[in-house]
Amino acid sequence: MIYHSPVLVNEINQILAPFVSKTIIDATLGNGGHTINFLNQGATVFGIDKDQTNLSITTNRIRKLNLEKNFTGILSDFTDLSLVSKKLINRPVDAILFDLGLSINQQKSTNRGFSFQDDLSLDMRLNQNQNTPTAKDIINSYSVQELFSIFSVLGQEVHSLLIAQSIVKQRQLKQFHTAKSLADFIVSIFKQNNLSIGKIHPATKIFLALKIAVNDELNNLTSALNQSLSLIKQSGWILVITFHSTEDRLVKNFIKSSKSQTIITNILKIKPNFKEIKQNPLSRSALLRAFQKV
Ligand SMILES: C[S@@+](CC[C@H](N)C(=O)[O-])C[C@H]1O[C@@H](n2cnc3c(N)ncnc32)[C@H](O)[C@@H]1O
Repeated sequence: MIYHSPVLVNEINQILAPFVSKTIIDATLGNGGHTINFLNQGATVFGIDKDQTNLSITTNRIRKLNLEKNFTGILSDFTDLSLVSKKLINRPVDAILFDLGLSINQQKSTNRGFSFQDDLSLDMRLNQNQNTPTAKDIINSYSVQELFSIFSVLGQEVHSLLIAQSIVKQRQLKQFHTAKSLADFIVSIFKQNNLSIGKIHPATKIFLALKIAVNDELNNLTSALNQSLSLIKQSGWILVITFHSTEDRLVKNFIKSSKSQTIITNILKIKPNFKEIKQNPLSRSALLRAFQKV
């Protein structure tokens, strides 16, 4: 299996090292790239993921590397950070890391609904045991206005209204059952209306918006950030890696408000360097914001 490549590892090491006797919460365990880096340097890590598949993959990976002694894997949403901490950690930690977005195996999977090529599913729930609407439910039942609002606010897609109207018209003939059918239909809207198609797939922003809506990502992140400050030690760090402007704006606003209350300091904004982007082009849009509790 090809594991997700963790981004900005050197930069994170520079902020957090030395690791020996430190306790870190990795709130987005994924394939464990960051966690393994911390464990290898002597940290104790509590790794949270709401995706059962990723938690199992990574727990096995860590076991095979003989690093399980200082690792606890937790199946949970990071909105439950305080609860998890109270139940399982019970002490202030040195750092909390959020590496938002999808891991590579989630992106490429052909039965989760995230990939344009997925001909089996239009789900997009990170936690598939949760009884909440899937992307398929949203696409096949929301009104034009509701779809427009999701596409424009969360995806910042300029053709949101046309796409929302076209989807609602098309689904009266045939409902959408797979990510591929939705992605192909969006391509056909662009072609029929002579809209220019750039380097990225025309469905990129719509898929991003649906993923954010299905997983209630903005509310979850706000809630988790609000809980984080009380879970770290004095001088502890919160590190957030985002991959798009909607998420980053939220983090920026959180930093602004915490700074005005002088509860955080040493605010850093770091992007991957040229060498990393060359080695891992997916790191291109990553942006790390890190800050320390006063
Ligand atoms: C970009 S990946 C993290 C990659 C990881 N740093 C690595 O090196 O492999 C993001 C992970 O966070 C998880 N995730 C996203 N939102 C979450 C939430 N609200 N609660 C818990 N896990 C979440 C996803 O399921 C995914 O596995």
